[in-house]
Formats: sequence, C-alpha cells, structure tokens
Amino acid sequence: MILVTGGAGFIGGNFVLDWLKLNAEPVVNLDKLTYAGNLDTLKSLESDTRHKFVRGDIGERELVSRLLADYKPRAVINFAAESHVDRSIHGPGDFIQTNVMGTFNLLEATRHYWNDLSVVDKARFRFLHVSTDEVYGTLAADDAPFAETNAYEPNSPYSASKAASDHLVRAWHHTYGLPVLTTNCSNNYGPYHFPEKLIPLVILNALAGKPLPIYGDGQQIRDWLYVKDHCSAIRRVLESGSIGETYNVGGWNEKANLEVVHTICALLDELQPRVDRKSYSEQITFVQDRPGHDRRYAIDARKLERELGWKPAETFETGIRKTIEWYLASHDWIQNVTSGAYRDWLSKQYGA
Ligand code: NAD
Ligand code: DAU
Repeated sequence: MILVTGGAGFIGGNFVLDWLKLNAEPVVNLDKLTYAGNLDTLKSLESDTRHKFVRGDIGERELVSRLLADYKPRAVINFAAESHVDRSIHGPGDFIQTNVMGTFNLLEATRHYWNDLSVVDKARFRFLHVSTDEVYGTLAADDAPFAETNAYEPNSPYSASKAASDHLVRAWHHTYGLPVLTTNCSNNYGPYHFPEKLIPLVILNALAGKPLPIYGDGQQIRDWLYVKDHCSAIRRVLESGSIGETYNVGGWNEKANLEVVHTICALLDELQPRVDRKSYSEQITFVQDRPGHDRRYAIDARKLERELGWKPAETFETGIRKTIEWYLASHDWIQNVTSGAYRDWLSKQYGA
C-alpha cells in the first residue's frame, strides 16, 4: 500500500485515479480538503475498497504517525501543498504552513516510522516529494532549459516555500538516510484542474462569455505537460529512481501564454461555437501583470529519459484537445467547484 498526500487535488487526484486503474495496490489518501481539494474528483472510487480517504493535515504529527503505523505503506508520495502563485502573493502564510512546516512534519513522522521498519521493508521504502520547476527561478529567452544542476532561485512566496520543502527533503536524506526522491515538474494541465489556473480559467470564462484575463503582455513562457504524463513520470521515478536524486519532468512544450489562450479559443470555436459565431478570442483582455512574474520556464527532461526511459505520451495539441473535451463534458464537476468561495477568489483577484 502507498500513502498519497493531497490526493483530492488536481495532480494527486489524477495520480490516485490512474494508480488504481493500473495497480492492485491500495492507496491511503490524506487530504485536508482546502478550497483546492475536491472529493468529486474521486467519485468513481466511492465503492473501491482499495481507496481509503482520510481528511486531515500533513502538519498533524499524531494523525500522520497513526496512519503510517496502521497502514504500513511502502511509500509516501507528497502532493499536498498550497499551489497557486497568485494566492501566495495575497497571503503567503498558508504556503509556509503547509509547504514548509507540513513537509517538515511529514518527513519527521516518516523518518520515525522508517527507522522502525524491518531491514527488508526499510530498504524498499521511498519518500517521493512532488515539486515544481519554479524553484529554479526564471529564464531569459536564450537560456538553456532548467537542468537538475541549476541553482535554486525562487521568486514568489509559493516557489520559495516549495524550494524550502525540497531542501528539507534533501537534508532528511543526507543527514538521516531517509530514502527520498524529488521530482520538479513544469506546468500541468488536464482534467480536474481547479479553474483558478490559466488553462481551466480561460476555458470556463470563454464559455461563460466572460473576459479572458492575460497578465501583462502575455509573452511569458511556460512548458506545458499533460497531467497524466506527470503521473506516469512519478510512477516511473517511484519504481526506478535512484535514492537521493532529483528528476526534472517536462513536456518539451514551451508556449507563450497568449498563444495558449488563442489555441484554446480556436478549439472552442470548433467544438462549441459562440452563438454569434464570432471567435472566443474576442474576449481576450489584457490585465495588470502578476507582481514578480517569472518570464520563462523550460525543463530539460533528458535525465529522466536517459536514466529511466520516460517520455511524455501527449503533445500539447493532443493534450489540450482532450482537456477541452473533458471540460465540455463535465458539468457536474464544474458546478461544484465554481461555488461561493471560488467566486470570492475571482472578485478578489480580478475585481468586477
Ligand atoms: P492543488 O492545489 O490542485 O491540490 C493540492 C491538494 O493538497 C488539495 O487537494 C488540498 O486540499 C491538499 N492540501 C493542501 N494543504 C494540505 C495540508 N496541509 N494537508 C493535506 N492536504 C493538503 O495542487 P496541484 O496542482 O495538484 O499540485 C500538487 C503538487 O504538485 C504540489 O506540491 C505542487 O507544488 C506540485 N506541482 C504542481 C504543478 C502544476 O502545474 N499544478 C506543477 C509542478 C508541481
Ligand atoms: O511551473 C509549475 C507551476 O505551474 C506549479 O508549480 C504551480 O503549482 C502551478 O500553479 C503553475 O504555476 P503558474 O503560475 O505558471 O500557473 P498559472 O496557471 O497560475 O499561470 C500560468 C501563466 O499564465 C503564468 O505566466 C501567469 C499567466 N496567467 C495566469 C492567470 C491565472 C494569466 O496571464 N492570467 C491569469 O488569469
């Protein structure tokens, strides 16, 4: 059995669904159910006895220690985090609490559990920490993509908190011998993505006839990866990664934000045209830039390919079409996540 944290969120939810489709091995899923956690994502597992959901905080030592003692997982996979850069600018406290203190607590509880395992169980145990490319800071247009050897230069409260968590994970290996693995991934997109992030926000705003907000000049570059490819990379690193190593995960899909939004509009024009037959791109609106906005991210994922034979299955073109088709077909899930708290966030971030 494995213990997954944050498995009701976007990536963790996709990971749990895929895991149980591909493996017989059960999952204990520890999630605090913040605004970003959503049990609807896991609805198809309601009668699956291999999925044990526990509502709780990775920062609660007693709870985490009890789950480890009761379920005796062979691995912990840590997805739990505050994950939205704009929210970290409005209120960094939760990011320090969960991403730094929460990871520290999880590491400590895991270290004590791991220490008491038998020699065989100890040797096969892994702590896999899911992190981000944002820890490396920002790139100029002609810089090489981020490699695992790049220095950490985080620029936002979110990325600084993730960088701190990565350092803790590294230190728990170096000092205590905890068998850790870290993945640093680029921007994900796909089903069950909470619509505060660019791609799902643009899809839902377009369909609702609302403005499509582009920060600054829209020329910031992100390296997009379909979420199921991120999940397959995590499975590969879990099974074959070398203890103490970090692996960059990316899609080789660098795109400027404006290009991404135009692509979404063109696909929506094809799949669900506006009643007036004009393009959804007419709704594009340039708004004030994000403070400290990183200009470009790009991932060099060659280590993962060379050492573990992983490659993404989707291109941006195939993945974004699947994503839009999923949003067009998922009314109930969307209804539930776009409730009161979500509307409060939109007016705080974008005003009227
Ligand atoms: P998300 O915000 O969609 O989900 C986070 C989940 O963690 C939610 O279900 C939430 O309820 C849960 N959670 C938050 N605080 C918790 C706590 N204290 N205890 C237990 N559960 C808690 O995030 P996501 O986009 O799925 O990201 C998952 C992980 O992947 C994060 O660590 C993030 O930094 C990392 N990551 C995300 C991306 C991306 O593009 N979204 C890319 C690379 C890495
Ligand atoms: O790079 C990995 C990271 O990708 C993850 O670690 C984060 O958890 C995840 O949220 C994501 O961070 P970004 O800040 O890159 O994602 P977001 O979807 O918020 O923004 C993508 C780009 O689009 C970014 O340049 C900001 C811009 N943007 C975003 C929003 C929400 C807009 O122009 N308008 C918007 O309304």
